[in-house]
Amino acid sequence: MIFAANFKSNHTRKTTKEYMQKLNAYKTEHTVWVFPPATALDEFKGSVRVGVQNAFATHNGAYTGELGLEQLDEFNIKTILIGHSERRLIIGETLGWLQEKFNFYQEQNFNIVFCIGEPLEIREEGVEALKRYLDEQLEGIDLSYKNLTIAYEPIWAIGTGKTASIEEIELTHNYLKTKFNSPLLYGGSVKVDNIKDIAKIKSVDGVLVGSASLDVDNFIQMIEKLK
Ligand code: PGA
Repeated sequence: MIFAANFKSNHTRKTTKEYMQKLNAYKTEHTVWVFPPATALDEFKGSVRVGVQNAFATHNGAYTGELGLEQLDEFNIKTILIGHSERRLIIGETLGWLQEKFNFYQEQNFNIVFCIGEPLEIREEGVEALKRYLDEQLEGIDLSYKNLTIAYEPIWAIGTGKTASIEEIELTHNYLKTKFNSPLLYGGSVKVDNIKDIAKIKSVDGVLVGSASLDVDNFIQMIEKLK
């Protein structure tokens, strides 16, 4: 299983360092990734892979407030999240913009975690609307890319404490699995209490965790559940 922690705008450089020390000291056969805020990026000793939550499709240049490849290279970062719903909705990243990022970081051979997921009104419209919506979010994305991981995160389940039901996750993941062979993560209020049931679903290869990853002991406790 892949356990990916998305800190969003939480943690500082200091607390991320403490977090990483503790997490790297914890031994597990599972794969663990952490996406700290940009100011906390660093090379940490250990097997936990560190990725960036966002970066611009550029080596460097005049893009105020953005990071390029040059800044990621300094810390040997080779993993990126693209398309998180908070960036699509709050920042306003469009599909065209995401495709550009995807193509650029694919060319750099990055491990890309590409996030997709529907709002509640689409889910309520039914399965066909859901499939159409997810198909559109994957348009122009090279699904045969070897270093690709997809994260399915229904927007209504993110940070709300409301997890999709096992049947909902299963149905969506099974559909997505007909489109690519990449690992498929589920995200949206994954926590210690539900990790076991979610991990039992055959088409779930891992989880992308926000809130429940912020406390390192809680995150480790979640990984422990799958011993
Ligand atoms: P959550 O966030 O675990 O707090 O729901 C998940 C995510 O946004 O990746």
